[in-house]
Amino acid sequence: MLIVIDGPAGAGKTTVSRALAERLGYKYIDTGALYRGVAYEILARGIDPDDQDGLSLLLTNLDLRFERTAEGMRLFSSGTDITDYIRTPQITMLASAASAKPVVRQALLDLQRGMGKQKAAVFEGRDMGTVVFPDADVKFFLTADLKVRAMRRFEELGRTSSQSLEQVENDMQIRDSDDSSREASPLKPAEDAIQVDSTDKTVEVVVDEMLDIVQAAAGR
Ligand code: DC
Repeated sequence: MLIVIDGPAGAGKTTVSRALAERLGYKYIDTGALYRGVAYEILARGIDPDDQDGLSLLLTNLDLRFERTAEGMRLFSSGTDITDYIRTPQITMLASAASAKPVVRQALLDLQRGMGKQKAAVFEGRDMGTVVFPDADVKFFLTADLKVRAMRRFEELGRTSSQSLEQVENDMQIRDSDDSSREASPLKPAEDAIQVDSTDKTVEVVVDEMLDIVQAAAGR
């Protein structure tokens, strides 16, 4: 089956998607990492994100792929492992800006659909259920209150982060609003998505809840 999980930043999509994929023996694809990969290249090559030609050229030559290594799933761009460089606040905001560009979304659309061909996968993102995989077998929309999401992200960033909790919350609010209000594939639940609120739930509870739903869908 093909399972998709959409939702805002910090709702727990990554942890939950990874755990769900593991329990099912499926592969897990973090599509946000692909947008971050594009942002990484924009920054590395000094491209102005509003320069349509520069962006198009970058996308024509884009070579992003996930590879399983001894350290787990890693993201490679043109053969270089960029996994450790795509979670900075600068890349985070640039990925959000880049993701509003239709040319970027189009380029990543084909890439994502190719990755989903063999099914047996859990895809995490913002528009998985609405645009990329409208025919997915099970669609989840995972949410949580902003304050809880900001706290989770703050803890995840760890002590080495230069950002305060307030800054994380503020960035998150801006990103939520940008991701939801953009014209190209805005963040929104698919009509047939099952909404799950993780505000007061542990990861285990959420994953168990989703597994039940997936198993019920498999038996249909
Ligand atoms: O999930 P994330 O924070 O790693 O995603 C980074 C950015 O990419 C986020 O601001 C929105 C964008 N994104 C998107 O537009 N569509 C997706 N399917 C996944 C992420």
